[in-house]
Amino acid sequence: MRVLVTGGAGFIGTHTCLLLLEKGYDVVAIDSYINSNKKSLQRVIEILKSNKTTKDVSIKIFNIDIRDKKKLDELFLDAQNSGQPFKSVIHFAGLKSVKDSLSNPLLYWDANVKGTINLLNIMNKYKCKTIVFSSSATIYGLSDDEILSENIEIKPINPYGVTKAVIEKLLNDIFDSEPSCWRIANLRYFNPIGAHSSGMIGEAPIGVPSNIFPYITQVASGVLDKLTIYGNDWPTRDGSGIRDYIHVMDLAEGHISALKYLVKNNHQIINLNLGTGLGTSVLELVDIFERANKIKIPFEFSERRKGDSCKVIADNSLALSCLDWEPKRTLKEMCIDGWRWQSLNPNGY
Ligand code: NAD
Ligand code: WQD
Repeated sequence: MRVLVTGGAGFIGTHTCLLLLEKGYDVVAIDSYINSNKKSLQRVIEILKSNKTTKDVSIKIFNIDIRDKKKLDELFLDAQNSGQPFKSVIHFAGLKSVKDSLSNPLLYWDANVKGTINLLNIMNKYKCKTIVFSSSATIYGLSDDEILSENIEIKPINPYGVTKAVIEKLLNDIFDSEPSCWRIANLRYFNPIGAHSSGMIGEAPIGVPSNIFPYITQVASGVLDKLTIYGNDWPTRDGSGIRDYIHVMDLAEGHISALKYLVKNNHQIINLNLGTGLGTSVLELVDIFERANKIKIPFEFSERRKGDSCKVIADNSLALSCLDWEPKRTLKEMCIDGWRWQSLNPNGY
């Protein structure tokens, strides 16, 4: 089956493209490279070539911004004319920094919302009506619930989260307008970390990372001096914030399971939390990283970060019951794989 992957050169996109290709999908990836590097998908090809069974597999890659209607239309038209139209889209493309979205909301609405509207218009035109969308646990905002299930109220507290919530709403409206045509999965990711076990692909943030895991790996490699832990007075077992970290390869597998689920079942729209259901504190994460990799991570505490939640943990029971999927990799594996990637690529790609 031919799948279009938008944002395919990014962190989660590269890992998902690799898995799709290993599983025999015909993959076309597009990216504007605003937050990625052209080398990332070349590395995916290198990984495939190093394996006897996948050495002849290929991927088509195009430099396309999803806001560029003309280029998107040409892409879909070419696919149709070649007799291999797109049957489904995995839609990663978008901007993802909470902090940047606060200082530049217009950019976030433009890239995420307008970009997705363009994509959906073209999908509609070419009768490609199956989409797996990258949503985020950030849409739950500062919920009082510690374990978040899909049916709690959505109340995002920053422009990035608002764009994800608005796109989910738009997808619901589109589904309602043609319920017998669309198949839609909104995947709400929790905190993806780690990297492919080859150490060839991983997360390569531009500038100083704002997420904890790339910050830890950059401290480990000496790119950064020390970690600042935001708050030691949270009402948690050790005073630091708790999150649900999930290995990026488990997340990638979740996308393939979601795609299979949509194709196999009746037309529907479904929201699914992709997390492990397990909470880990910042201090526990640092400790596991140190012990798994035998590296000390110097840290200091600071005030709590504005807008942070105390605990964010997925109720992943719906994903476990619907999808032929479960997250399998441990936190130790996330730390080992993430560090392998960082130590082999201290400056990213
Ligand atoms: P990423 O930035 O590494 O990947 C996104 C990719 O999309 C990048 O390669 C970027 O260049 C591309 N892109 C951005 N705007 C584009 C546009 N207008 N046209 C074409 N390409 C564009 O991020 P990621 O961590 O791989 O995240 C993928 C998706 O998952 C994003 O939509 C993000 O919001 C969402 N998400 C990420 C996380 C996380 O913690 N990483 C958590 C929840 C949701
Ligand atoms: C994790 C924990 C921090 C950095 C964000 C987005 C969310 C999603 C995933 C896209 C918290 C603490 C962090 C640091 C620290 N992305 N921390 N020192 O905030 O859970 O989620 O990324 O959709 O939308 O909001 O992830 O990695 O920033 O923080 O102590 O230098 O680490 O306080 O407890 P977060 P994070």
